Amino acid sequence: MVHPGKQAAAMAALDHVQNDSLLGVGTGSTVNVFIDALAAAGTRIKGAVASSVATAERLTSHGIDVLDLNLAGQLELYIDGADESDPQLRLIKGGGGALTREKIIASASREFICIVDQSKQVEVLGEFPLPVEVIPMARSFVAREIVRLGADPEYREGAATDNGNIILDCHGFSITDPVALEAAINAIPGVVTNGLFAARGADLLLVGHDNGDVTTHQAAGAD
Ligand code: A5P
Repeated sequence: MVHPGKQAAAMAALDHVQNDSLLGVGTGSTVNVFIDALAAAGTRIKGAVASSVATAERLTSHGIDVLDLNLAGQLELYIDGADESDPQLRLIKGGGGALTREKIIASASREFICIVDQSKQVEVLGEFPLPVEVIPMARSFVAREIVRLGADPEYREGAATDNGNIILDCHGFSITDPVALEAAINAIPGVVTNGLFAARGADLLLVGHDNGDVTTHQAAGAD
């Protein structure tokens, strides 16, 4: 059975999708509900740019065209889930390992709508271990650098990303300044990117509640 909060948030996102638009589509169980609902609603989009192989396969299975981002140009809208969101709509993502492509597409989109169930809302990011995608040969070096930054990295066994890299799940970061921490981790040689979406967070957060209600949260400065 689909989680009622995920279902509610995914359905609410449908209202933001225009016919004949090009859409960026994220990864995860909430996005899977969204993709299925988009297909069932009969909304005719021009096509989608997918943040993972799994999402591309699901879109294709519904007859939705999947485009290369290089050919699509700037996207109007990106829809994706998250593992945590703070009140400023800064996020932790990457629980499913798709963080790098997700960050690329979010950055290439004019608007990022994040869909989550209520359990993902937190006051301060960091309870969820922060995923970091790393080039395999740099694994031990990056792990030591992350310890120096104050966290405890854990190698995600057997989880190669779609880009052929590995993931370190970093426990215990005190994330009081997500923008600074995002930049500091990304500056370590061998890091591809990390799951903090703070420099470019969500513009709109749709939170699905267990009773089916949806609350809408807009980032300061978003139009
Ligand atoms: C995928 O790598 C993640 O960023 C997902 O967006 C995140 O884990 C949310 O997934 P669920 O919708 O399955 O909770």
